[in-house]
Amino acid sequence: MIRKPKPHRSGALPPNFSKSQIPNHLALVMDGNGRWAQERGLPRTAGHEAGEAALFDVIEGAIEVGIREVSAFAFSTENWRRSPEEVKFLMGFNRDVIRRRRDEMNELGVRIRWVGRPKRLWKSVITELEEAEKLTAENSVLTLNMCVNYGGRAEIVDAATALATDVKRGKLKLDSINEKVFARYLNEQKMSDVDLFLRSSGELRTSNFLPWQSVYAEMVFMDVLWPDVDRRVLWRALEEYAKRERRFGGV
Ligand code: IPE
Ligand code: IPE
Ligand code: MG
Repeated sequence: MIRKPKPHRSGALPPNFSKSQIPNHLALVMDGNGRWAQERGLPRTAGHEAGEAALFDVIEGAIEVGIREVSAFAFSTENWRRSPEEVKFLMGFNRDVIRRRRDEMNELGVRIRWVGRPKRLWKSVITELEEAEKLTAENSVLTLNMCVNYGGRAEIVDAATALATDVKRGKLKLDSINEKVFARYLNEQKMSDVDLFLRSSGELRTSNFLPWQSVYAEMVFMDVLWPDVDRRVLWRALEEYAKRERRFGGV
């Protein structure tokens, strides 16, 4: 039995949007955990811990308004540049969060998919992600792409390599390559184009998140550190999104 999301603890209800004002695919750059912790004189890791509740509140708020796909940037291919202590913490933390939250996500009808590279990623993180994928495979309320060890350029290079291999083996004709064919090599599972790209913390950059999928995304940057985010911040971003005129190159 699928349960409905619990309302926000403040009792806040989502604003009234028409269906066309709701993005199908929301990309989330969950940034600002370290600064949130530093402001409080806490270790950076405390900021990551505080960010967990933010993600799952945003997911409930996304379900409430009818968003169908959320991609959450949890660990980038560039985050290996951090101190060994922080990397180690983030690996263990991702593993634990996925284990801790997957039943709840399953109850909400959320389908979890892992998007990222296996290279260097802890085996235990992959195991938990695969376990979550299996558990939630039949769900269809919302798809949650957990982007762990994800990098946009890495994804494109991997796709190009797989494509070149198929051409070399005679499985794909050179003149049949087009955007649609190329996109099939990006992820095993098809990810839709991003409609709303939302980044917290006030930084105005994409940091290698979903470049292929976001070429026509509406960009919204919020001046809130990730641990302070909840579904009401998402809804504010949706109000901004609703004002945008999307043209896709047309008039
Ligand atoms: C985002 O917060 C979490 C990850 C990148 C894993 P940061 O850790 O980047 O926090 P800031 O940007 O240093 O404040
Ligand atoms: C992007 O944030 C990656 C994640 C949120 C996982 P970063 O904090 O790593 O990005 P930069 O370094 O500010 O560009
Ligand atoms: Mg950051």
